[in-house]
Amino acid sequence: MKKGLLITFEGPDGSGKTTQIELLKAYLSRKGFEIVFTREPGGTKISEKIRNIILDNDNSEMADMCEALLYAASRAQLVNEVIKPALMEGKIVICDRFVQSSIVYQGIGRNLGADRIKNINEAAIDGLKPDITFLLTIPFEEGLKRKSKQRSLDRLENSGDEFHKRVYEGYMSLINSADYITAIDANRSLEDIHNHIVKIINDLI
Ligand code: TYD
Repeated sequence: MKKGLLITFEGPDGSGKTTQIELLKAYLSRKGFEIVFTREPGGTKISEKIRNIILDNDNSEMADMCEALLYAASRAQLVNEVIKPALMEGKIVICDRFVQSSIVYQGIGRNLGADRIKNINEAAIDGLKPDITFLLTIPFEEGLKRKSKQRSLDRLENSGDEFHKRVYEGYMSLINSADYITAIDANRSLEDIHNHIVKIINDLI
């Protein structure tokens, strides 16, 4: 039986998830909690290899369903190798993206259908559900602008404005879709966002 706590972060590219995760990790470590941090796609040797295949700009011919199945395969390995064992040991697991990313990016962004993506991922997550998902909301133009200032864009980020607009709308449609999803307005100072997240976490732990 699961004993730990699974915290996931979601949001469009450039929504600032990674910075907020760093701040939360530091906060929880200061409080003495043992944190396991991981990310999707990736987080294990095999999943990082799958990540490289998915995000490689050279793989422009990749079929959308191949992309969806690779994300699910990466996730299956991560759940099995890292997330479930850590939860069994009572640890707090923070994951940068989880199954909602597939529902939004592949289901809605790639038009494969949210239900089809949920079905594909059922086997991958094996019944696992986050205790809380922070969904950082930011207009997609703003997010990609931030990203392209940091580094060159990968295959997913290069998927065009229409795709990213659907991703943004997909995320907005997830708000209120499950009791564990909490929307966080990411168009504020880092500190304001962090304080909001910490307040919610302190009610949980
Ligand atoms: P991420 O590592 O969060 O991006 P970054 O390198 O900017 O930190 O995610 C990589 C990309 O993969 C991102 O564009 C979102 C996309 N993605 C999906 O399309 N489906 C998924 O299931 C996941 C987990 C990510």
